[in-house]
Amino acid sequence: MILKGKHIILGITGSIAAYKAAYLIRTLVKKGAEVQVVITPAGKEFITPVTLSTLSSHPVISDFFSNRDGSWHSHVDLGLWADAMLIAPATASTIGKMANGIADNMLVTTYLSCKAPVFIAPAMDLDMFAHPATQQNLERLRSFGNRIIEPTEGELASHLVGKGRMEEPDKIVKVLEDFFTESNYFKGKKILITAGPTYEKIDPVRFIGNYSSGKMGYALAEACANWGAEVVLISGPVSLTTKHPAIRCIRVESANEMYKETVREFPTTNATLLCAAVADYRPEMEATDKIKREVTKEMTLHLVPNPDIAAALGAAKRPNQIVAGFALETNDELHHASDKLKRKNLDFIVLNSLRDKGAGFQCDTNKISILDKEGELTAYPLKSKQEVAADIATRLADLLNKV
Ligand code: PMT
Repeated sequence: MILKGKHIILGITGSIAAYKAAYLIRTLVKKGAEVQVVITPAGKEFITPVTLSTLSSHPVISDFFSNRDGSWHSHVDLGLWADAMLIAPATASTIGKMANGIADNMLVTTYLSCKAPVFIAPAMDLDMFAHPATQQNLERLRSFGNRIIEPTEGELASHLVGKGRMEEPDKIVKVLEDFFTESNYFKGKKILITAGPTYEKIDPVRFIGNYSSGKMGYALAEACANWGAEVVLISGPVSLTTKHPAIRCIRVESANEMYKETVREFPTTNATLLCAAVADYRPEMEATDKIKREVTKEMTLHLVPNPDIAAALGAAKRPNQIVAGFALETNDELHHASDKLKRKNLDFIVLNSLRDKGAGFQCDTNKISILDKEGELTAYPLKSKQEVAADIATRLADLLNKV
């Protein structure tokens, strides 16, 4: 009964799939959720407010004002009341308005005020769904952290067959149940994550760096925060940002700065995931002015080792703290990963190899294996970095349950 007592705003828009909202409400209410329906004017053409208010035991909200007594509905209060907002069915028009902040009805206004996680179940004709405008709007909503419940393939209202049918209500409810289950996994836990590259200055305009984009580390931070953790993300210089309220991002540039911040946060953490590609060396001297080729001609950079953050935390960790690292390899992958796992006293290491297409730096996907300190190796197929992050978080959750 994970949905028991949960406050859910159900947004209904003008699609033939609106009839499925009746079953959706019934299932949510049966599972103990409290449902408040907000419907667009077009939505009311497809299903009557009387049906919806009877099933949800709440008056349906559609207009900003009540003509009868002049009272108005506070979309702000509604947004704060909700534990989740679900828009099902979501038409191309409402998706477009949500993506662009066009608040001309109660549903979109409530969406803009909503602090809770938002789930969107599109329903439309196949060509409308496939259109770049719709796809771009959905991508935009994803980038806001909204979750899209993909439509399925099948016969549509137009009698054409293709992708555009709203997902079945039982599956939508399962998505919500899974979400609320997962969002408890790391409740009360503080997780420290490093991400991105480090830059080691040569002079005011040049540095030694690497290709890390931060995508893997940021995906991990989002996954852990979504699962209820308080996340501290120590990020090297990347163009990514995060808006998740449970993620505190500390931006650094060099390995020394990353070391300082990580060591400072470490004592109060339950787990640490070291995903950053930290430069192993830095120039011994940093020139104060731009080095000029005409003056310097040939030059030799003298490099000194940077602190090893993973090794420092591995040595300092208490028995109830988990420390995990990454190994980015190009050859003898398992041998090197195993060596790092032992040398840095890690609980597990996530191995990714540049020999695997679609793995490692920059790309949106990764292919990993997890090697634990008992020597057990689990290999995963190529997945999106978000899915990889969920696999790593699952492994971490198992370990945190045991300490
Ligand atoms: O950022 P993306 O573009 O998404 O790419 C993701 C990634 C490839 C950077 C990521 O998946 C990854 O593999 N990160 C670790 C890269 C790396 O530097 O590995 P390493 O084998 O050199 O280091 C081993 C471990 O020690 C890592 O956990 C690293 O964070 C840590 N380390 C290394 C050196 C150092 N001075 N301090 C450290 O803490």
